[in-house]
Amino acid sequence: MPRRRQRSRMTTDLPSVEPIEGTLEITRLAHGGQGIGHLAGLAVFVPRTLPGDVVDVRLTERRKRHAFAELLALREASPLRVPAPCPLYERCGGCHLQHLGYDDQLANKAQQVRDCLTRIGKLPEVPVLPMLASPQPFGYRNKALYHFDAASNALGLIERGKSAVLDVPQCRIGDARIDAVMARVRGLAGRERALRRVLHQVQVQVGQRIGEVLVTVIVRGEIPAQAQHQLWESLRDLAAGLLMHRKTTTTPAVFNGITTRLAGSAVIHERIGDLRFDIEPQAFFQVNSAQTERLYGLVRAAARLQPDDIVFDLYSGGGSIALTLAPHCAAVHAVEINRQATLLATRQAATLGIANCEFRTGKVERILYRYLAQGIRARVAVLDPPRAGCRPQALEALAKMRVPRLAYVSCSPPTLARDLRLLADLGYRTESVQPLDMFPQTYHVECLATLSHTAAPGPNEA
Ligand SMILES: C[S@@+](CC[C@H](N)C(=O)[O-])C[C@H]1O[C@@H](n2cnc3c(N)ncnc32)[C@H](O)[C@@H]1O
Repeated sequence: MPRRRQRSRMTTDLPSVEPIEGTLEITRLAHGGQGIGHLAGLAVFVPRTLPGDVVDVRLTERRKRHAFAELLALREASPLRVPAPCPLYERCGGCHLQHLGYDDQLANKAQQVRDCLTRIGKLPEVPVLPMLASPQPFGYRNKALYHFDAASNALGLIERGKSAVLDVPQCRIGDARIDAVMARVRGLAGRERALRRVLHQVQVQVGQRIGEVLVTVIVRGEIPAQAQHQLWESLRDLAAGLLMHRKTTTTPAVFNGITTRLAGSAVIHERIGDLRFDIEPQAFFQVNSAQTERLYGLVRAAARLQPDDIVFDLYSGGGSIALTLAPHCAAVHAVEINRQATLLATRQAATLGIANCEFRTGKVERILYRYLAQGIRARVAVLDPPRAGCRPQALEALAKMRVPRLAYVSCSPPTLARDLRLLADLGYRTESVQPLDMFPQTYHVECLATLSHTAAPGPNEA
């Protein structure tokens, strides 16, 4: 047994006899935004590089067939390179692709999707539709969560490859209102020790189409009443509401304590399509409002709803997809693990006067089996899981019910490809995958896959 442990360690440690520095040419971009080249028989991943770059690198971590490296010098620059607009780009961990022009980012992301479908999903025949560009390649993000470092008074993102907070006075991908709020909080924290002592993070959310801003200060301890007052006075011309979230445990989750409204509104709003949605600090809401509207339109088109259809909205978050589809079908059964999000969805439905949605808190992979046992069926299921994708049990339950149509929204091409493979083995044909750019300047890719079951429900399964 001790031997096995040693062998597995050796594959991750750098053997001293092998070269740890070298020069290589980057040949392609991997999912994750890193360039890949080859050195000493290894595929080497190098951050901030592009196909056509010739670079000096130092290996930092080695596995059996691949390694990770840091960039030491750029010997020859790829013709694809453009100057990154953000002066913090080299240090900041927020963006990954600012050194690649926007059209090339789109082409690369579409290629990533095709590669994942071929390599992981073994589905080379699935048509990948042309990538839909974001109307705003910069300034699109409607939300930011910044960390605060009291020693340096830095308010921003974690520095790339480090654990230090990088002060970010201006973020090029964020809505400009976020910078304005962060500047006020930074300024006040610099002057007021009582705030500086407890401040941990600041979240700013913007209802871009409605023009409302919600600020949540995340603290360890209490902000004294005087400092609370000063904070609101410095923000009230920019924000509709100010909340305080007091952390009560040391787990890494951002929200793990008690939220209190300090001033103004506890909720802001955003318009997506015909609907006006509530935005709260803890519930998921897509970060690019313009592309979200487009995505929901595509989901509705993919669902091909008939007035008497029953729909499952799985991983439903604050219910925005369910509420978008509800006016066009008979009923929506929505399932979401986060209770706060389910409560928000239920309130949203009441505010919008939508009565044909049922929101359940629970795990999709469990609730679907309950539906199966209870005879609850749908003609269309929308799936919008987190990056890790779906549990196989969830997909198996859909196949057991033979739900005829699926619209699978994914923010991770590798897990999408894995799940489409499983769905193919369970009798689903992927008609198309539509990538759309929800996150310009980063490596993240959003996709909508449309699937249909190859067989009609059997007599005992309907
Ligand atoms: C990408 S978000 C989708 C939100 C929503 N569809 C929207 O458009 O706003 C993924 C959601 O899945 C939820 N989730 C994660 N794992 C889950 C599970 N096993 N069962 C149910 N919901 C889950 C998360 O809490 C999160 O709200």
